[in-house]
Amino acid sequence: MPDILEELTKRRADAASGGGKERVAAHHAKGKLTARERVELLLDEGSFEEFDMFVTHRTTDFGMDRTRPAGDGVITGWGTINGRMVYVFSQDFTVFGGSLSETHAQKICKIMDMALQNGAPIIGLNDSGGARIQEGVASLAGYAEVFQRNVLASGVVPQISVIMGPCAGGAVYSPAMTDFIFMVEDSSYMFVTGPDVVKTVTNEVVTAEDLGGASTHTKKSSVADGAFRDDVEALAEIRRFFDFLPLNNRDRVPSRPFFDDPARAAESLDTLVPENPNQPYDMKELILKVADEGDFFEIQADFAANIITGFIRLEGRTVGVVANQPLVLAGVLDIDSSRKAARFVRFCDAFEIPILTFVDVPGFLPGTAQEYGGVIKHGAKLLFAYGEATVPKVTVITRKAYGGAYVVMASKHLRGDFNYAWPTAQVAVMGAKGAAEILYRSELKDADKIAARTEEYERNFANPFRAAERGFVDEVIMPHSTRRRVCRAFASLRAKSLHNPWKKHDNIPL
Ligand code: HXC
Repeated sequence: MPDILEELTKRRADAASGGGKERVAAHHAKGKLTARERVELLLDEGSFEEFDMFVTHRTTDFGMDRTRPAGDGVITGWGTINGRMVYVFSQDFTVFGGSLSETHAQKICKIMDMALQNGAPIIGLNDSGGARIQEGVASLAGYAEVFQRNVLASGVVPQISVIMGPCAGGAVYSPAMTDFIFMVEDSSYMFVTGPDVVKTVTNEVVTAEDLGGASTHTKKSSVADGAFRDDVEALAEIRRFFDFLPLNNRDRVPSRPFFDDPARAAESLDTLVPENPNQPYDMKELILKVADEGDFFEIQADFAANIITGFIRLEGRTVGVVANQPLVLAGVLDIDSSRKAARFVRFCDAFEIPILTFVDVPGFLPGTAQEYGGVIKHGAKLLFAYGEATVPKVTVITRKAYGGAYVVMASKHLRGDFNYAWPTAQVAVMGAKGAAEILYRSELKDADKIAARTEEYERNFANPFRAAERGFVDEVIMPHSTRRRVCRAFASLRAKSLHNPWKKHDNIPL
């Protein structure tokens, strides 16, 4: 082999070795895959095309000129997932702890620019100790360049962050601006400042896991959208998730072969809603019965479980689902569920993903905690998000649709395209008992009278027909036919064209 070819082979092998055998062994011992192994699992076999394998940092301070590993701690390039293009960066913790230098940032920026230009999503596999301490302000500038591109790419191409190790300082703010964050249990952390700094500043003693582990961010902070057992499961699930997403904001949702009859009836849905209006049932059953092949990718499953968000397919095409969950807090809307659903609705609208809404909502949660926490503004986020969305919107009211929450949940008044109700639906200002107690306060002491008033209110409003008579409900449908009805509705909306007035951007209540 000519010398120069040999040199290339040697240089490639050198770059592939990352931080060296010992560091790689230590990394494996923590149950983590290397940056390269992760890319291989994420992408279709043999599809990865690498950029900048030989880039090295330029720092000379702190003896850094003696160590210039090829690639500088991040692997970048593009490849495919089930044949669809994606740009990827994968930080190599075995090289300077995956820390971000000026050149490391330039490599990431290069593929972000290409992703924007070519209309393909960006997946970041994050495993980084933050700004490279030896570089000082140069590394901060590098982060800023990445952040600016995150902002410009937002709403243009989907951006997905997978947190696969410790991510501290600047390493968390880039993921925070992407569309979705997924974590790996027990091996990934996200915090602005670590436990030691927390102890110094606030005197709190907290472990890294408690401060910023997967459980904290999926259950408490809602920073993360989901968590997986280990690297292998995480990467397999990201492939599954990627298949739901369009490549960019001008692309259509992906259309895949499907083997599920769009007219499939689900007889069990006819008895899903219990006779007793205060008895809960599992809204997920409806989602699974409606979805192609029962395939549902849930987002933020462990946070604000009183609302469900996630992706399904109908006739092979992606649809975003938002659904009140009567099993948790009776499906009430509160600060957390409003924020969760609003962000999801906005993602769907930005990427032209139609939205299917299942409604069973008793209203907004009352109380000082909610009012002091700003439920007015947070609830308004969801109202705003549905109101501005121009994608096809199909809504099915299964049971309660009370008060402001009725309006918020993709009602006809917020440009819902198809608003269906099951016969068990109750579209009213509030529950019958509460209504009778307010309207007939003078009769409160007489239980029989109040019961009669409640019954009267129920007769009038505890049904879908009052709303249907006004055209606020387009049709009252049989529960078992829901899949057929919503499939047909979305099929009829494929050429929908609706535009909001020109504006620089809106001013959603943040
Ligand atoms: C340079 C770093 C580094 C960094 C880790 N390393 N972080 N090198 N810059 N930021 C190096 C270590 O020196 C070590 O090198 C190797 O990576 C592995 O690190 P360990 O500490 O041995 O690993 P571990 O015990 O697993 O701990 C990982 C860690 C810890 C939790 C990430 O390293 C850590 O706390 N790092 C510093 C985090 C931090 O404060 N970053 C700066 C944030 S400020 P050797 O040669 O021994 O293998 C910031 C501001 C940006 O990011 C703001 C933008 C707006």
